[in-house]
Amino acid sequence: MKHIGLLTSGGDAPGMNAAIRAVVRAATFHGIQVTGIERGYKGMIEGTTRSLGPRDVSGIISRGGTILHTARCHQFLEPDGRKQAAENLAKWGIEGLVVIGGDGSYQGAEKLHQEFGIRCIGLPGTIDNDIGGTDYTIGFDTAINTAMEAIDRIRDTAASHDRIFFIEVMGRRSGYVAMISGIAGGAEDILLPEVEMTVEKLIERLRGGQQSGKSSSIIIVAEGCEYGGATALAKMVSERSEYKDNRITVIGHLQRGGSPSAFDRVLASQMGVYAVEALIAGESGKMVGISGQKLHLCPLSDAWEKRTRFDMGLLRVAHVLSI
Ligand code: ADP
Ligand code: F6P
Repeated sequence: MKHIGLLTSGGDAPGMNAAIRAVVRAATFHGIQVTGIERGYKGMIEGTTRSLGPRDVSGIISRGGTILHTARCHQFLEPDGRKQAAENLAKWGIEGLVVIGGDGSYQGAEKLHQEFGIRCIGLPGTIDNDIGGTDYTIGFDTAINTAMEAIDRIRDTAASHDRIFFIEVMGRRSGYVAMISGIAGGAEDILLPEVEMTVEKLIERLRGGQQSGKSSSIIIVAEGCEYGGATALAKMVSERSEYKDNRITVIGHLQRGGSPSAFDRVLASQMGVYAVEALIAGESGKMVGISGQKLHLCPLSDAWEKRTRFDMGLLRVAHVLSI
């Protein structure tokens, strides 16, 4: 193998740049040329690429976002779009691909692998940590720490004013960010897309806290929870209870930016080297995952077929500790 392509796709995540740096430098170390494909599959179809050498990735290990930009590309969902992309890869002389993204991006990679025999390896890059086949995705650790810091700040003002705050964190399909940042931030309750919960139960919990001496509360709401986010939930609580003067904070895309944590930088660095060496070894249609301390390869399809379900015991921990 003499030439590989590299792209970031789907939602960006802190640590994607560290992964780009690792792939470029590991490839160069092994005498392989790297072409960066800009804006994910969109750039593969439209032909926006740039050559990447070790000095092109200097200083990016500490930067959030992705220097290759990212995009969601509807054209790639169609066979014609993928044909155009595969023809471009052949024209550019690209023999293998590293795709950094979430399970949607992997489904695209799987199709390139199956329909055109293109050698693809996936690196898990998403703040949601909702990909099967790996304990952690690149970006999750940074995102939960960003959310936790935001919760800490809100708690200061909530406590000062004896208020209830509803804090919405990201996660349309996955409550992992909500669960972990909620426990780390000492939340009174956490609402997740994966768990049914009634507004009445939440109100009971708020009353219980008040009876045990609490004068303020923090409720973490994953954006994908069944009530449609923090704003809708806060409205329901205020309509159905005495808790009318509550406040809402949507952390939103703040969680996607910022300098990656040490954990994400190291995870991305390890995974980047592993991905390049997997391509050299002739692997394809696989993703890099981590289990315990060890990296491994597993089928790309594990990402969506064996989606990570976090330990629901964590919610009990949150409830036990919020008395
Ligand atoms: P993520 O990778 O973060 O899950 P998306 O689900 O938005 O993000 O997917 C990123 C891109 O991957 C999509 O815009 C599309 O171009 C491609 N993609 C997603 N699903 C498929 C699919 N089933 N087949 C082909 N390409 C796909
Ligand atoms: O998948 C990452 C993620 O940040 C989700 O948590 C969130 O629901 C979604 O992307 C937001 O996407 P967009 O940036 O397109 O609004």
